[in-house]
Amino acid sequence: MALSIRVLGAAAGGGFPQWNANNEACRRARAGDPAARPATQASLAVSADEDRWVLLNAAPDLRQQIEATPALHPRTGLRDSPIRAIVLTNGDVDAVAGLLSLRERQPLAIYATARVLSILGANPIFDVLARDQVERHRLILDEPMPLRDREGSPLGLALESFPVPGKVPLYLEADEAALDTARLGEETIGLRISDAAGRGFFFIPSCAAMTPELATRLKRAELVFFDGTLWRDEELILEGSGAKTGRRMGHMSASGPHGAIAAFAGLAVRRKVFIHINNSNPLLLADSPERAEAAACGWEVAADGMEVRL
Ligand code: MLT
Ligand code: MN
Repeated sequence: MALSIRVLGAAAGGGFPQWNANNEACRRARAGDPAARPATQASLAVSADEDRWVLLNAAPDLRQQIEATPALHPRTGLRDSPIRAIVLTNGDVDAVAGLLSLRERQPLAIYATARVLSILGANPIFDVLARDQVERHRLILDEPMPLRDREGSPLGLALESFPVPGKVPLYLEADEAALDTARLGEETIGLRISDAAGRGFFFIPSCAAMTPELATRLKRAELVFFDGTLWRDEELILEGSGAKTGRRMGHMSASGPHGAIAAFAGLAVRRKVFIHINNSNPLLLADSPERAEAAACGWEVAADGMEVRL
């Protein structure tokens, strides 16, 4: 059996096009331009057996993503889902809001850090995921663990979670005395998922900076899905749509001396795929010079519906 990965959504928070964004790229996407393919918000589905699936993040578009993915449809009886577990990398709206679509008393297991679980716990709306049906598991960082379904059956997948530089979710920024956009802790994590044969990949949709530890961890990896939010750090300012740099938002850019392309240059990662791509990022446009530049450096750009087998 192979390790199967489906990209449910490739875009950053807001999706592509974003509801209130009217830049040229979003206008091209709305006009049906084949070089500006729409994308939903970032999430992957993973399976060791093509039967039982684990979601990596639950995007606000989850209902639409499930309908677009036959492997995730119900198969038997009146209530059924091949989705058995969800792993969360942070507490941002685009990573957790899809949990609300998973109500209806389906048995599920949610895996997140104590920090992200505390955010869910502080928001009673998430109790629509009935506690007697949906188990919340605390991830211990840097401790590999088998992923299990609600009944405790192993799903054939092992999870390693580790801290990456990041910040508190946008909606909690006001509560934080010191806003540190490169905090290393339980706020933002990266994941490595592997199967019994040892085939594995990384999912790091949000990362403010490449640390020496992260570089060491990623060296010679088979496959990495990595934060592709912005092409340039000042992209929103240059576009005129926002005042924040990528760094301030907790995202390292793709380009530039401190960007992901440069940071991965010596890491010998076999397959590198940008994911969580903002509507301002020219990487979303198949005919952009930036897309060609990334490709020349060995980078792919995730798209909704993309399938990978390891
Ligand atoms: C981010 O990735 O920076 C967040 O999704 C932003 C947001 O919550 O809108
Ligand atoms: Mn996000």
